[in-house]
Amino acid sequence: MSEVVLDKSNIHVLHSAPSADQPRWERPAITSTLVSKPYLSPKAMAYVQEVLESGWWGYGPVSKDLQSEVEKLYDLKQQALATSSCTAAMHLALRAFGVGPGDEVIVPAFTYVSTAIVATYCGAEPVFADVDPASLVITRETVEPLLTDRTKAIIAMHYAGPPADFDPIRDLVKDKNITVIEDAAHAFGSIRDGEPVGAKADFAAFSFAPTKQIASSNGGILLFKDAERRSEIDQLAFLGLAVDTFGRTVAKGVSPVQEVVRLGNKYKGDDLASAVAIAAIERLDEIVEYRGALVDRFYERLSDVKDVQLQPRPENSKISWYIMPIRVPAEKRDALRAHLANAGIGNTVHYPNLREQKAFLPFTGDAPVTAEEARRVISLPLHESVTLDEVNRICDEISTFFR
Ligand SMILES: Cc1ncc(COP(=O)(O)O)c(C=O)c1O
Repeated sequence: MSEVVLDKSNIHVLHSAPSADQPRWERPAITSTLVSKPYLSPKAMAYVQEVLESGWWGYGPVSKDLQSEVEKLYDLKQQALATSSCTAAMHLALRAFGVGPGDEVIVPAFTYVSTAIVATYCGAEPVFADVDPASLVITRETVEPLLTDRTKAIIAMHYAGPPADFDPIRDLVKDKNITVIEDAAHAFGSIRDGEPVGAKADFAAFSFAPTKQIASSNGGILLFKDAERRSEIDQLAFLGLAVDTFGRTVAKGVSPVQEVVRLGNKYKGDDLASAVAIAAIERLDEIVEYRGALVDRFYERLSDVKDVQLQPRPENSKISWYIMPIRVPAEKRDALRAHLANAGIGNTVHYPNLREQKAFLPFTGDAPVTAEEARRVISLPLHESVTLDEVNRICDEISTFFR
């Protein structure tokens, strides 16, 4: 093995900036309008540079600032923990409630894989609930028949951005030892009856994945009510260490030796990703407004197209839209997808029926509405680089297809 000699010249090499003239990576050419694209806030570059140059990239002051910013949105009535993802946040919520082997977790059949997979991370079983045919979210009626004495948690997902009313589900289980976790990955910034999504939940989870309204490289938030459990949940999110790396580093005097007080996961967010999320949260109002204007145009242009069904928009709500789903007759769905793709319009399916996925076949729960509606959905492009002209073009293509 050759010996590494630290002399002036290689120290110079370590600290000299490489030429930034040429991009370092080739990227595939993308010619169609993307369904989702992360919003690059004007401040993001400077914040990332500040974090990089600070020498602290992991969970630290910026992630704590992200937590404070989110807590302010909830009038300091909820605790916020910056996590590495929404998936991590949901798993943490289940662990914090003590969900384990033998327990059942009721989850929607119509959702992203994360909502259900986290039950299995705890050794628990996901039980699939069907959804309301209009809003496509679980309801008291779809959940009630699935309750057993093994039910320990229900994860309710807000679909597409419109804030759902999960109070009836909370009422259903209020005298039972069952927690209702809100999967609010789609709905950061949505408000219903004056309250932001997740305000009433024991636990709510948000996502800052690159496709989301608040986009970063990865990341999320676990929101929880019980301030007294803060340090325990912090520990669950950082390997069960009594004090996380940042805490030990900034401790006065001799830094404390690692002490593992419980079995935790490594789920805290990091300052690079948090900096990007903060830059976007500073523009939350504009993001919500811009997406809302695009969605309004889609609704204006598509509400009269006979074969197209749009998501209901709840009253007394401000909607932070994540995606722009439409529903069309199942037998025409894939042809419309191909027609749009040929016209350079990216489109996708949120979601295929999770209940029918191979990995979930061994579990239980009937979901006939999901089975039908999942064959009808298409998501159209929705992000800050889509213009109203592009929305018009997309709507023209859809109208032409059904003419
Ligand atoms: C409904 C839903 N839940 C959970 C997640 C997982 O989020 P993350 O990628 O931050 O773990 C997503 C991501 O798209 C989602 O759409």
